[in-house]
Amino acid sequence: MTTESTERIPLLPDVQRFVDRSHRLLIDGAWVDSASGQTFESVDPSTGERLATVAFAGERDVDRAVDAARRSLSGPWGAIGPADRERILHRLADLMEEHADELAQLESLDNGKPLAFARLVDVDLSISHFRYYAGWPRKIAGQVLPVSVPDMHCHTRLEPVGVCAQIVPWNFPLLMAAWKVAPALAAGCAVILKPAEQTPLTALRLGELALEAGVPAGVLNVLSGDGTTGAALVRHLDVDKIAFTGSTEVGREIGAIAGRNLKRVTLELGGKSPNVILPDADPAAATRGAFEAIYFNSGQSCTAGSRLFVQRDQYDDVVSALADTARATVPGPGLAPDTFLGPVISEGQRARVLEYVNAGTAEGAELVAGGSAVSGPGYFVEPTVFSATSDDLTIAREEIFGPVVVALPYDDLDEVIERANATRYGLAAGIWTTDLRAAHRFADKVRAGSIYINCWQPSDAAAPFGGVKDSGVGREHGYEGLSQYLESKTVWTNLGADNA
Ligand code: NAI
Repeated sequence: MTTESTERIPLLPDVQRFVDRSHRLLIDGAWVDSASGQTFESVDPSTGERLATVAFAGERDVDRAVDAARRSLSGPWGAIGPADRERILHRLADLMEEHADELAQLESLDNGKPLAFARLVDVDLSISHFRYYAGWPRKIAGQVLPVSVPDMHCHTRLEPVGVCAQIVPWNFPLLMAAWKVAPALAAGCAVILKPAEQTPLTALRLGELALEAGVPAGVLNVLSGDGTTGAALVRHLDVDKIAFTGSTEVGREIGAIAGRNLKRVTLELGGKSPNVILPDADPAAATRGAFEAIYFNSGQSCTAGSRLFVQRDQYDDVVSALADTARATVPGPGLAPDTFLGPVISEGQRARVLEYVNAGTAEGAELVAGGSAVSGPGYFVEPTVFSATSDDLTIAREEIFGPVVVALPYDDLDEVIERANATRYGLAAGIWTTDLRAAHRFADKVRAGSIYINCWQPSDAAAPFGGVKDSGVGREHGYEGLSQYLESKTVWTNLGADNA
């Protein structure tokens, strides 16, 4: 297979200007070089060529950013009222809307994802996230408590947690930043955002728009860098809360450090999500759903439906229909108009995905479609379908984070529920059926943070998202997400006559 089309949508002049600039760090409201002067390159995964040069934040930059964030809390940001926080968040959402096409092109270039998805999913959902959380500040309220201590008035105040380190991955760079920055700012916290080294550009642009929107100096700092930058942030003792999305291995390490230092932490980690087609499902809708569940974002989605369970009687038909669609799907550059499947993020990620493919074949799974890198420039992998009978294969257990699905036959609902649960992960699980009782039995019995019935990974700022088991700790979105950025303080007031 070769990539079909290299014709690309032309870049907007503002996007071209942005990528051509050298990029600095946002610390204390100013764009500055890193203390070491070090830079790194962001690569276009559709070509493998350098896209932009970006400042690399080291330990001294982390110190500067944490200090700026701390000062902002006792400065104007700490004094600002909730109505003004709402106004600033709405203004930021307005600016993102004005620059939506530009943000989408940047995301598509830096990550490789199809431009239409970048616009409709990443950018639109990011805007919607800022709008949703813009609605919260004036509704954050403590409680008056019915205590039994005589003559006492007792109430709680909900205060910002403080300085938050937010470390995001490369698969949905702007959206993951929005998921973290929006609730933190709504709560009145100050943030140090650390984008992934593969995809720093939209976070840097978000920093520019935030300043334009009136976010005061030091409230949102953006430090581009790699895992060492993230680790320095996590170790920093003046950080009050860490929010992380990424691999389970790094999340476990971050959780351990946060535990030792007694810092608040939320972790959104990996998955190996089961996608179950019951015999009564509409076969065309279920097969289409299974296709999108795995290949959306080139399989680089923590909720990817990477284990597909099909009832034995329909197994061959569904697998062969899925494989036909996979074979007919030619990967292409994110900026080519017809692309559904973009590249994976990097050469390293492609090598990792192909290692899993080799392991699948070596352990006896049947390779039904795909399985190879696509020749030519860029990091493309063919959409791949495996058929297997054992849940113990490496490809059926581990998160691949690429366009690879393993199909597995099953016989009945109870059996498939047990097998759906036989994983260390618990992020998402889906079922395709017209049987309401079966669907809700599945929702009841499967241990996962999200259950999808006749759909896959819908997302809304109001609906909590997160995992159980090795998929993470805590929830993002909705009030649950906001509450991770709030600390409760209990205030006792003696109303007794003795104190009059
Ligand atoms: P990663 O977990 O190493 O990177 C995610 C973010 O964490 C990046 O910003 C990175 O710079 C930062 N980071 C790395 N090491 C750190 C440390 N010790 N302390 C603090 N921050 C650190 O993920 P990576 O290597 O990019 O991808 C490897 C695998 O992780 C993928 O193949 C996939 O399986 C999984 N992954 C899961 C994601 C999800 O959405 N749950 C997102 C990205 C990766």
